[in-house]
Parts: sequence; structure tokens; C-alpha cells
Amino acid sequence: MWNRSVFLCLSLALTAFLVQNAESQETFRNPIFNGNSADPSVLRVGDFYYLTLSTNSTTEITIFKSSRLTNFTGAETTIAYVANSEQHSLWASEMHFVDGELYIYFTMNVEDDVGEREWRMHVIQAVDPTNPMGLWGSPIKLMSDFEPAIDGTVMKHGNGQNYFAWASTWGIWIARMDNATTIGASKLRLRIPVPTSPWECDIYGGCLNEGPYFIYNNNVSYLVYSASSTFLPDYALGLMSIPFDKDPMNPSNWDYGENAPVFWRNDDEDVYTTGHASFTVSPDGTETWMVYHATDSKEVINGNRVARIEKIDWSENGPVFPRPHGFNTDQPVPSGQILSLIHI
Ligand SMILES: *[C@@H]1O[C@H](CO)[C@@H](O)[C@H](O)[C@H]1NC(C)=O
Ligand SMILES: *[C@@H]1O[C@H](CO)[C@@H](O)[C@H](O)[C@H]1NC(C)=O
Ligand SMILES: *[C@@H]1O[C@H](CO)[C@@H](O)[C@H](O)[C@H]1NC(C)=O
Ligand SMILES: *[C@@H]1O[C@H](CO)[C@@H](O)[C@H](O)[C@H]1NC(C)=O
Repeated sequence: MWNRSVFLCLSLALTAFLVQNAESQETFRNPIFNGNSADPSVLRVGDFYYLTLSTNSTTEITIFKSSRLTNFTGAETTIAYVANSEQHSLWASEMHFVDGELYIYFTMNVEDDVGEREWRMHVIQAVDPTNPMGLWGSPIKLMSDFEPAIDGTVMKHGNGQNYFAWASTWGIWIARMDNATTIGASKLRLRIPVPTSPWECDIYGGCLNEGPYFIYNNNVSYLVYSASSTFLPDYALGLMSIPFDKDPMNPSNWDYGENAPVFWRNDDEDVYTTGHASFTVSPDGTETWMVYHATDSKEVINGNRVARIEKIDWSENGPVFPRPHGFNTDQPVPSGQILSLIHI
């Protein structure tokens, strides 16, 4: 009896040691998906990560569910919306909680009010906000009288007011949200590429800001956006910020940063076209992780943008971005991620 309990204790201790050790040593490699996966956006709901993408099929919104941020290959999927014959080009969908309900914001090419085909922002609502894999409602068009819009995102500024930001006519725009499905009438062009910033312009002279996404720390909202050409290797991320107690609808309240990219191509590891970032946390909530797309080629970009992740650190001045990691670099998995031995 005595011997048996000692043995049990020892083997339990050994198992605990092995599990802890395996956890601290476990690594992953980019990418996190085995196929064309531009504009990746992840939301953590309960114990799972839910990923949406701009895949080759631009007539539906597919949700991928994984317990591991490092791997969506072969993940469980559901289709949240299928376009009708009048609708196409569903791009850059993002899942957000607003006022306790769960929504997907996305752009879709539809006929506008004067009969012209344009990209307009739409939103669908989950029937059960705790279950992204469940049923979703019909699309509601946002900002119908505004000009074409893509890459919509929600800003939860700490002043209790939500804002909606999107990309249109080469710049990033913002407006107040009256509620999750209604955008206020007054809009502001927050940012257009400054002609003196070559990093926001491509080699042919086209300048572009798009793909806004917000992260928050120490009572400051940070806007991460993509700049330069979507289809060239120099696509890069920029950063601007505004304290919670300042009104985002006043351009002079924004800190426009250092006029330099914060995350850009890494030729040493064959990573190009680094852009369209979204952000989430590690399973234990202690780390910030960025989900973005990039290519492994300077020439082949369309159809070759693949979802990857990087850990983001924080300093007093805001988020600190690493250099992009290529397919051959091992990185520690997000803190608290369950072991790959346990497949769920
Ligand atoms: C990713 O998940 C799939 C499905 O569970 C599995 O077959 C594959 O081995 C996993 N890949 C990695 C790198 O863990
Ligand atoms: C948002 O506001 C619109 C317009 O007032 C209204 O029709 C809609 O029901 C509201 N939605 C929610 C979730 O409150
Ligand atoms: C953020 O603002 C809240 C409310 O004003 C305050 O209680 C808190 O100390 C602030 N936190 C930081 C890190 O400044
Ligand atoms: C997606 O389209 C690209 C070309 O645009 C093609 O190279 C790629 O094989 C396609 N991927 C899938 C999964 O169909």
C-alpha cells in the first residue's frame, strides 16, 4: 500500500514535470494556414479562436475554429453567409463583439442607390453571441449613402463611444457608431498618405492607406493600418494613436507617429507584402498576438498571401513589433496554448 502511493505520487510529479517542460519548450512555425488566406482576422470567444479570411471563394464568409492560434489547417469550419447572385467580392470580414452581441463586418460588391455596382460595408449578427459556429442573420448595409468602402473595423475608444473606421479613396475614414448596425452621418477622413512619405507609396507612385485595426493599452487607442500597394512586396504596417480622453473625430487629437513603417518585409527570411493586421491575446491572456498576411515571394503575390502570427510586446510608447518570421524559424507558442499532443 505504502509503496503504491509513493509510486503514484512520483509518477504524478513526473507527469506534471513533463507537461510543464513540454509546454515551455513547444514551438511553432509560420504560416498558420495551408492556403491562400489574405486579410486574416481572429477573435477569441471562450476557449477558441475564430478566423475569417479573404479566400479564393469571394461569395461566402467561412469561419475557421481552432483551440490553437498557431494552426487553422484542417480546422472545423462553418459558412456564416452565402452571397446571392447580385452580390460578389466579399472581402476582409472581421468578427467583433459590440454591446454584448457578436457581429461580422465585411465589404461586398452590390448595386448602390443609383444603380452602380460598388463595394459597401455590411454586417451580420450571430443568433447566439456565445457560438460563432451557429446561425447568422441577414446582411445589413452600413453607410449606404457613403462612397465605396472596404476593410471596416470597430474602434472601442475608452470614452464609452464606439467608432467605425474603413478604407475608401486611398485613405482611412472614421465615424461614430450609433449602435452596432448604424453609423452616424458625420464622417472624417482620418488619414491620407502624405506625399512626403515614400513608404506609403509604391514604385509606380500610387499611395494607399487601408486595413485599419485598433488595439488598446494604458488608456490609449492604437490604430494599426496597412500602406503602399496591396500587390507589391513593400506593403507595410503603420501606427497612429489617440488617448481615451480625446475625441477621434478631431484630426488634431491624433498622434500620427514617426512617419515610418512599424512592420515591413524581411528579405533575410523571405517575408514580403506584410500587412492587414488584426490582434488577439494568448490563451492565458498575458500576451498580445498579431495575425497578418504575407507572401514568401517578391513576384507572386495575388493568391499567395498566407496568414501568419507574431507576438507583440508593449513599451511605454505603445506596441513593439518584431521583424516578420519566415517559414523556417521556430517561435515559442502563445502562452498557455494547449499541447499539440492533445488534439481537440
Ligand atoms: C494542424 O492541425 C491539423 C488538424 O488537427 C493536424 O493534422 C496538423 O498536423 C496540425 N499541424 C501542426 C503543424 O500542428
Ligand atoms: C440600431 O439603430 C437602428 C436605427 O435606429 C435600429 O433600427 C436598430 O434596431 C438598432 N439596433 C440595435 C441592435 O439596437
Ligand atoms: C485609465 O483610466 C482609468 C479611468 O480614468 C484610471 O482609473 C486608470 O488608472 C487609468 N489607467 C492607466 C494605466 O493610466
Ligand atoms: C487561389 O487562387 C490562386 C490564383 O489567384 C491560385 O494560385 C491558388 O491555387 C488558389 N488556391 C486555391 C486553394 O484554390
